Amino acid sequence: MQGLIAEGDDIVKEQKNSTALDAGIIAACQKVEHYEIASYGTLCAWAEVMGHDEALKLLRQTEEEEVSADETLTEVAENVANQRAQSE
Ligand SMILES: [Fe+2]
Repeated sequence: MQGLIAEGDDIVKEQKNSTALDAGIIAACQKVEHYEIASYGTLCAWAEVMGHDEALKLLRQTEEEEVSADETLTEVAENVANQRAQSE
């Protein structure tokens, strides 16, 4: 996760005066979301195997929130940021 955050910082520094800044930030954020989705997916599998039904319910809910955040970022990228980035 620290590496993903460092990568995001680099994108901001490199693109700070570019129309591609928002697209770069979204890309960096989506990498974090995918990391979280993978992590919660694994935790869900482990909770299921161990029979921790209450934990599984909460972990699935959080995983779904991460998927939703990723989908929202995709919408913003496809509808706004990527087109703005291409305009430069
Ligand atoms: Fe997230």
